[in-house]
Amino acid sequence: PDSLRVALLGCGVVGTQVARILTTDADDLAARVGAPLQLAGIAVRNLEAERDASIDPAWLTTDAEALVDGADVVVELMGGIEPARTLILRALAKGAAVVTANKALLAQHGPTLFEAADAAGADLYFEAAVAGAIPIVRPVRESLAGDRVRRVLGIVNGTTNYVLDRMATEGLDLDQVVKEAQALGYAEADPTADVEGYDAAAKAAILASLAFHTRVSLDDVDREGITGISAEDVDWARRQGYVIKLLAVAERYDDGPDAPGVQVRVHPALVPEAHPLAGVRGAFNAVFVEAEAAGELMFYGRGAGGVPTASAVLGDVVSVARHRVLGGKGPVESSYAALPVLPATAA
Ligand code: NDP
Ligand code: HSE
Repeated sequence: PDSLRVALLGCGVVGTQVARILTTDADDLAARVGAPLQLAGIAVRNLEAERDASIDPAWLTTDAEALVDGADVVVELMGGIEPARTLILRALAKGAAVVTANKALLAQHGPTLFEAADAAGADLYFEAAVAGAIPIVRPVRESLAGDRVRRVLGIVNGTTNYVLDRMATEGLDLDQVVKEAQALGYAEADPTADVEGYDAAAKAAILASLAFHTRVSLDDVDREGITGISAEDVDWARRQGYVIKLLAVAERYDDGPDAPGVQVRVHPALVPEAHPLAGVRGAFNAVFVEAEAAGELMFYGRGAGGVPTASAVLGDVVSVARHRVLGGKGPVESSYAALPVLPATAA
């Protein structure tokens, strides 16, 4: 093709950085893809909102559907369930490749979206949906596909890690630090998703689905957030030699009457100071994967923020664009066998 038309849905914390890099690094990206990536437009809610100087107002539109209809690659960075879900389905039905960072949507409607992608023979990529800049989706989805994963464990929410870290180092209250995390672009549009553990649970569901080749949804995840944790709790833990971290854990179990199966949970935990997870500061994330043949693997990096997340989004854009230039698509999701998932116990 002469060029590939890229439609951006959303021009917030992440979308702004994706648009900026797409345009400033256009020549390098074209060389890597084998064709120029042309920014077809950016769908937003409010045309009058103040934006970064890198955003040309002529790119903006409120007609997301028209933008999707003319695109080769649709990059969904709006967040939320609707209209993101309908727009992604519309894009896939028209044969466009889709890149999304929307973990909430994937954890609730993943199967519908993957089936639509497979039916259309289109790519649906989502590296940025888990742990920001850290390449974790592709390694678990592709590199470990020939191994048997036993456990995935780690810190997958930057906001809560930043908040717990600031509470520990500065003795600040949770509400105070959540406001900082919002200002830094780490938090979700509604930070309840972060502090109540829903965001980490969505990411845990996605990782577990990929690691165990099954379908884990948000409702299957046992979830407890950090709103019950006070500055005094954090200080008490420190004096005992521990750091409080919000952990996501997904495990395969092979013992018991209903084995084999999968259990997924998110909860605050006391991590000994000497453990590598205790040293994960600020909005950084870290994920350990234990697989039968590979053994232990560790992934670490920036888990939130516009610029780091844009790296993961653009990596996906380059991958799906290359597929279009060369013909073909990436991994098929709907062919996965279903391993039973232990239901979450009522909180
Ligand atoms: P923001 O809230 O900063 O931006 C959302 C953007 O989407 C805004 O430009 C908004 O328009 C636009 N938008 C929202 N709803 C609509 C709608 N109905 N129609 C048209 N445009 C709409 O979100 P983020 O950039 O922080 O996050 C985007 C996605 O990336 C989310 O799914 C989030 O979970 C995910 N993510 C975020 C990370 C982060 O660190 N922030 C990291 C990893 C993933 P307007 O500007 O006019 O309000
Ligand atoms: N709100 C999320 C977090 C953004 O803090 O981790 C990255 O997914």
